[in-house]
Amino acid sequence: MPPGRFISLEGGEGAGKSTQLRRLAEVLRGRGLDVLETREPGGSEGAELIRRLLLEGPEERWTAEAEALLFAAARADHVARTIRPAVERGAWVLSDRFLDSSLAYQGGALGLGTEAIRALHRFGSRDYLPDRTLLLTLPAKETEQRLRFRDADGADRIGARDAAFHAGVAAAFEQLADEEPGRFRRVDASGSADDVTARVLAAIEDLL
Ligand code: TMP
Repeated sequence: MPPGRFISLEGGEGAGKSTQLRRLAEVLRGRGLDVLETREPGGSEGAELIRRLLLEGPEERWTAEAEALLFAAARADHVARTIRPAVERGAWVLSDRFLDSSLAYQGGALGLGTEAIRALHRFGSRDYLPDRTLLLTLPAKETEQRLRFRDADGADRIGARDAAFHAGVAAAFEQLADEEPGRFRRVDASGSADDVTARVLAAIEDLL
């Protein structure tokens, strides 16, 4: 049996991660692979409960530190109960967001710093990292247009933060991709869904 893989999709709101994750899963299944689609925050029973605590309610519900800890707690459960067991049985695990979202949103935009977030990940998830992280990138103007058409579900506690916050997230993602060129691939998320899926596939082809 070929080895399992762990792939994460990252990017700001409205970049089309969820759509592309579904499409990538379909293509990989078509090639006979065992594929598990998952997401963060969430992906295990406990982490889905934490997701509600994180994404519902007023913006000021959590301090920055508590927010980072809750994401790390959800991730620890997700890794231990869902991701690791699946990769160990040989599956391809595709996750809509992972550690890099915490590094960009809480570490970068929220100002906690990446070292604090990495320390939580070391403790919670023993530094578990994806084999490949795809950063879906979109010019700010195009993101704005897409978000205007998004349903109410899209406006969660964190997604609803202001434009400066989201610009901080985008800048932090860019820096992370620069720092780890081995793990990251940037994928241009503009154009048709088919075009983006072709780029996504090209960015993981070497792992197949
Ligand atoms: P999504 O389902 O739209 O991706 O919503 C998840 C929200 O949570 C999104 O606004 C990004 C945010 N988030 C963080 O701030 N830190 C994290 O570690 C993760 C996984 C998500």
